[in-house]
Amino acid sequence: MITLIKSTFYKEQETKKKLCAFIKKAKMLSIGKQCREFEHSFAAYQGRSHCVFVNSGSSANLAIIQALLNLRKIKKGEAIGFSALTWSTNVMPLIELGLQPIPIDCELDTLNVSSRTLLKTLERYDLKLLFLTNLLGFCDDIEEIARICKKKRIILIEDNCESLGTVYKGKKLGNYGIASTFSFYVGHHMSTVEGGAICTNNAEIETMLQLVRAHGWDRNLTEDKQLKIRMKHHVNETFYSRYTFYDLGYNLRTMEIQGFIGLTQLKYIDEIVKKRQSNFLRIAGQIYAHTDKYYPLRYDHIDVVSNFAVPIVCRSQKIRDELVKKCDGKAEIRPIVGGDMTKQPFYHRYVSREHRRHMKNANIAHEQGLYFGNNPELTEKEIQTLISIFT
Ligand SMILES: Cc1ncc(COP(=O)(O)O)c(C=O)c1O
Repeated sequence: MITLIKSTFYKEQETKKKLCAFIKKAKMLSIGKQCREFEHSFAAYQGRSHCVFVNSGSSANLAIIQALLNLRKIKKGEAIGFSALTWSTNVMPLIELGLQPIPIDCELDTLNVSSRTLLKTLERYDLKLLFLTNLLGFCDDIEEIARICKKKRIILIEDNCESLGTVYKGKKLGNYGIASTFSFYVGHHMSTVEGGAICTNNAEIETMLQLVRAHGWDRNLTEDKQLKIRMKHHVNETFYSRYTFYDLGYNLRTMEIQGFIGLTQLKYIDEIVKKRQSNFLRIAGQIYAHTDKYYPLRYDHIDVVSNFAVPIVCRSQKIRDELVKKCDGKAEIRPIVGGDMTKQPFYHRYVSREHRRHMKNANIAHEQGLYFGNNPELTEKEIQTLISIFT
């Protein structure tokens, strides 16, 4: 059986050995030096000034929306665009925090929102913010999307939980908006078992994210930032300063164990991305050529495609169902990410009918799509098996 996920992290035995040694001698395992070092290293890898490490990609999504609300960059009730084809905890924070989610359809040949589908949505809605998902290592014309957002004063943030390492027009995905989120869950590009992050160049957003991550207090801020916030709020007594809560927050903190694993895994990230890209190009080149069975997926506009799964959209549900049977006991498969969010029960429960327009392409991907795993430890035999099943 070719499973979706092959290991907890890359070079598992080596990493576990180092982790055991680290835990044995560590004096403290709650958030500290390892997490801070990981933040610096990950920000440097991504090419951003700041990184805030949190306990999952879902937490990263929740934290950035809460931070933008705290900073009054967005307000309750405002219309926020999101990719209809995405993961549940991309759109859930919008609902949970009282915003108005507006779904945007994807293109069938890239599975991502494009400037065309965005402009179509803008004919009906004034969006305050676009929370764009970069789905499965792909993108459409994100540069043009960013240009439109800038022109129309729409804040752009990217959910890059599925596209760490993808490069479009010489720029890494996750660097097109004012902030971007990442997931380090097992099976994603890089794993800290559970983990996530938000990257930004904006120091004000970084500070607010640090408050949001930990109870709304200032404990994990640098000393100069603490001084500033304490002066602003006239908090000068040490007795209270450690227990002053400045804005709305949660507890989304990571442990030193995750920081340590993150630093270890980051050393392999270029190797991981290279292998995933090479697997994808080999497999996709063979499978996507079968345009009688599958909708063709376009990726030649992307410099580096870095994904953890290979999506397929069948021409009919019958073809998809036959493939599901064919994969039984041979290859683990699943729907494309979370499918069309507007079809999910939670969406029907909390979003009014008026904002549940039919998402034609996301619906096709939902009803006729599937994906199988792409990971750096796929063997040559497994790659050949996958190609033979789907061709
Ligand atoms: C697009 C997207 N956003 C967010 C998440 C949530 O990440 P996590 O599982 O780390 O909470 C996922 C998970 O796979 C995802 O695919």
